[in-house]
Amino acid sequence: MEKKLLGILQCPYCGKEFKLSARAKNSSMVSEGKLICGCSEYNVKNGLPILLNHEPKHKGEWDDQWSLYSNKIRLWDTDVNEWEENMLKQSLMIKNTSELKGKWILDAGCGPGVISSKLSKYCTGGGLVGVDMSSAVKFANSHFSSSLRIARMNENLHFVQADIQHLPFKNGVFDMVYSAGVLHHIDDTEMAFKSLLRCLKKRGKISIWVYNEDTSIKVKILEVHFRKFLTFFPRKFRKQVLLSLLPLFLIKQSLFGKGSKQDAKEKLLHIYDALYHKVAKRYFSKEMVDLFKRNGLKHVVIGREDESGFSVTGIK
Ligand SMILES: C[S@@+](CC[C@H](N)C(=O)[O-])C[C@H]1O[C@@H](n2cnc3c(N)ncnc32)[C@H](O)[C@@H]1O
Ligand SMILES: [Zn+2]
Repeated sequence: MEKKLLGILQCPYCGKEFKLSARAKNSSMVSEGKLICGCSEYNVKNGLPILLNHEPKHKGEWDDQWSLYSNKIRLWDTDVNEWEENMLKQSLMIKNTSELKGKWILDAGCGPGVISSKLSKYCTGGGLVGVDMSSAVKFANSHFSSSLRIARMNENLHFVQADIQHLPFKNGVFDMVYSAGVLHHIDDTEMAFKSLLRCLKKRGKISIWVYNEDTSIKVKILEVHFRKFLTFFPRKFRKQVLLSLLPLFLIKQSLFGKGSKQDAKEKLLHIYDALYHKVAKRYFSKEMVDLFKRNGLKHVVIGREDESGFSVTGIK
């Protein structure tokens, strides 16, 4: 963790600023230490601030999913470079990456940090902070973060383990907040959305991507009804079922996959994403636009939309 991150952090539960207690006093980098506030003490481990005072609901499901991830180049059957392009143009609606220079950006629910790492190179002079409650953020931190400073790469990139519903940031510190594939997995989506808004500056931009309710019958049968049935069972059983279904999904991919390049491990991770999680809501784009508007956002626009999901962007 870079010491400069302390300037934007606060305790997610009592709202007080942190006092840092670290072994190496003079370095700008904290590898091991404690962040102390009015209510608690949090560890910084291997450069990662762990700002949770209890295990958030559903964290275990995500830990299970991300334990399958080891690839830094591909995710969701997409090459990360292609994904970066989609993210910038169709979700964040950035015309020129120079717009991101000097900006502070929050990637809320960053998973293994692949896309955070890609976008962080554009916010020189500012910073990109990836937050996730799951163990995926440890992967992100150890592979991409500035806290390790491998060959001084990704100096603008920071990771924090925290819950989106209790974000550890001061009010209005980010110029831009984005959250891809996350809010529909949180029980109280609107409360989580408000939590993101609190950390966004006035006139800052927020962009989210969520699952589409306006989708195909195939998605409804599998990702809505079958998932609901499966998640009735304990995690251990769900894992067994998905593992035994993997060969079927791989055969389907080789017959109808339209050039899909997922190997068995990547495919299994993708299947977990679609079928393993208890909370996976779907929205009509109009519902999300209404949510943005009743929370005071202006210039609300729907971006990329397909049967899987859509993005919505607005200005605070
Ligand atoms: C489908 S993944 C999306 C990851 C990444 N944004 C992407 O597009 O690849 C959803 C992520 O949201 C995280 N998440 C879900 N609920 C969360 C919460 N309440 N606080 C923080 N992270 C959360 C999960 O741990 C998981 O990594
Ligand atoms: Zn506190």
